[in-house]
Amino acid sequence: MNIWTFEHEEDLSSTGAGIIASLLQSKPRAVLGLATGSSPVGIYRHLTDMHQRGLVSFAQASTVNLDEYVGLPEGHPESYRTFMNHHLFQHVDIQPANTHVPDGNAADLEAECAAYDRLIDEIGPVDLQLLGIGHNGHIGFNEPGPSLVGGTHVVELVEQTRQANARFFPSIDEVPAQAVTMGVASILKARQILLVARGADKAEIIHRALTGPITTECPASLLQCHPNVVVLLDREAGGLLR
Ligand code: F6R
Repeated sequence: MNIWTFEHEEDLSSTGAGIIASLLQSKPRAVLGLATGSSPVGIYRHLTDMHQRGLVSFAQASTVNLDEYVGLPEGHPESYRTFMNHHLFQHVDIQPANTHVPDGNAADLEAECAAYDRLIDEIGPVDLQLLGIGHNGHIGFNEPGPSLVGGTHVVELVEQTRQANARFFPSIDEVPAQAVTMGVASILKARQILLVARGADKAEIIHRALTGPITTECPASLLQCHPNVVVLLDREAGGLLR
């Protein structure tokens, strides 16, 4: 595991964008696994900037997002599809048909999960999976528990996750109770993983995930089993390491 700690947010984000851009430069047809939330926003901003300066193209790339809320109407400002359009897709030359986010409004969610797994199998393996980390160690929306699920599935969001995400909604009551998420096996199949965390509130879970026991009670700890993980932290999130 390669862990990099940065003094400045801009350096963290430009490094993350540079890793993704150099993958696209050497492999234009790369499959990118993407995340939402606050952690990757700076990376998407830098990628947009690099694209606008002619340094990177997404024209042949495909993307698969980790997760989506269940039940938010199409176009809802907090749906992860809207997030991705707003922060990346509409600013770069990716073909909309090559961008994939689970459909949290599918009439048959089980069938949607199975179809998403087939899609990942068809277009994958994912070359690079971008990840944030929840305060409880979730990756995607794989919440801690006595067991984890390998493939895409519907998950009940735990109270801590709904509270953490309430900052994006008018009130916690409007945060969906369920999401569709890629499973841990799909995440771990990616050729490379890029984990990003910022802020003092992530220091404890980063320390536990990267140095503690490998356990389903901290899904991010499974990343210790992956052969190619790059971790980008700000000084605060890396504060308990070493
Ligand atoms: C988002 C996702 C989540 C977030 C995590 C951290 O697609 O899958 O696992 O990465 O909740 O969120 P932020 O970055 O907002 O702290």
